Amino acid sequence: MSKDRYGSAGRVVVTGGAGYIGSHAVLALRDAGWDVVIVDDLSTGSLHLVPRGVPLRIGNIGNSAFMATVFAETRPDAVVHFAGSISVPESVERPLKYYNNNFAASCRLVETCLAAGIDKLIFSSTAAVYGIPEVQPVTEDSPLRPINPYGRSKLMTEEMLKDTAAANPFRYVALRYFNVAGADPKGRAGQVVKNSTNLIKVVSELAAGRRPGMTVYGDDYATTDGTCIRDFIHVSDLAEAHVAALTYLMNGGASDVMNCGYGEGYSVKSVLREAGRISGHALPYTMGARRAGDPAQVISDPSRIRERLSWSPRYANLDLILRSAIAWEKSLPVLAGREEDAANVVPLAPHLAAMSRVARIHPTLQ
Ligand SMILES: NC(=O)c1ccc[n+]([C@@H]2O[C@H](COP(=O)([O-])OP(=O)(O)OC[C@H]3O[C@@H](n4cnc5c(N)ncnc54)[C@H](O)[C@@H]3O)[C@@H](O)[C@H]2O)c1
Repeated sequence: MSKDRYGSAGRVVVTGGAGYIGSHAVLALRDAGWDVVIVDDLSTGSLHLVPRGVPLRIGNIGNSAFMATVFAETRPDAVVHFAGSISVPESVERPLKYYNNNFAASCRLVETCLAAGIDKLIFSSTAAVYGIPEVQPVTEDSPLRPINPYGRSKLMTEEMLKDTAAANPFRYVALRYFNVAGADPKGRAGQVVKNSTNLIKVVSELAAGRRPGMTVYGDDYATTDGTCIRDFIHVSDLAEAHVAALTYLMNGGASDVMNCGYGEGYSVKSVLREAGRISGHALPYTMGARRAGDPAQVISDPSRIRERLSWSPRYANLDLILRSAIAWEKSLPVLAGREEDAANVVPLAPHLAAMSRVARIHPTLQ
């Protein structure tokens, strides 16, 4: 993407930039001419996803002393905040982890931003803030009724941002992602986490021969084929939405909340059928019972982001999403060869290293 599409660039700190979505945003930001510094504790992120030449500071965003040093050294124009914990089932089992790592750590991060004079932030929110929506498509004004600690921790963070922006010279855009899927079309990034419950990741593992089968949870929903319908957004389109949101704030845009989706949905069975067509053989699955808390259908109304950010997706096509995800899945064993290649990690000052996690390569690839 050209720098001209969204205007002039500056410097940005990307928290969680070694993760799935953050790494795609780093690529999009760099393609758009932004100077990027990644902050990540590598708790689920991977050094494989950090492009060569992009500085990485390893540490926790909730560590104010560490973040203050990063901000003092890098003096960014804005922060793009992806860092967080993302598993809904884990959030039910370990709610305090989610309130700490998503909400409390974000409070500390924003406090550190204010102290450093950083007045712009993009936040990774989620359709989980809507809970089980009664009306489709879901607009930003739909009722906010999260049904698990993950969704609540994200909604609490949105509210903290809103109150902070009302009381300080500080503006933000919270992007509510629907079902994020796919991989960088050039093969530079993708999802590396193991045991993902993300449908397209699981289906791609199946198509690439990396798992023997999968379970479809329920075929008795009131949908065309009885399986759940979701609005899948290609991760590279989502990455570009962050570039657009950042430029919007740089140009003086007001704080806002925006859905990120395509406004159309695909059923679980249609995803399996399409992935089978791409891989040339039917994919094996077993039929299971419904899971608690799975709405039959969740589809975004993306009008606001299209209008306010002039964002227009480039990969709004299930075939493209699946092809990129399957190609990435097939490339994973090759990527494992880069395990030792971590020349762009910026060593921490000794006193900060003591406060931060010890740098290590996350064992997501074997
Ligand atoms: N994946 C999705 O479908 C989806 C949907 C909606 C919202 N989101 C949100 O998008 C963001 C990114 O998700 P993802 O799928 O890329 O997950 P991910 O786990 O791949 O990325 C999260 C990154 O943040 C880092 N991190 C976590 N806690 C940290 C901390 N306290 N300090 C520093 N680094 C930390 C991890 O090491 C990882 O690199 C998350 O905030 C998530 O809630 C994701």
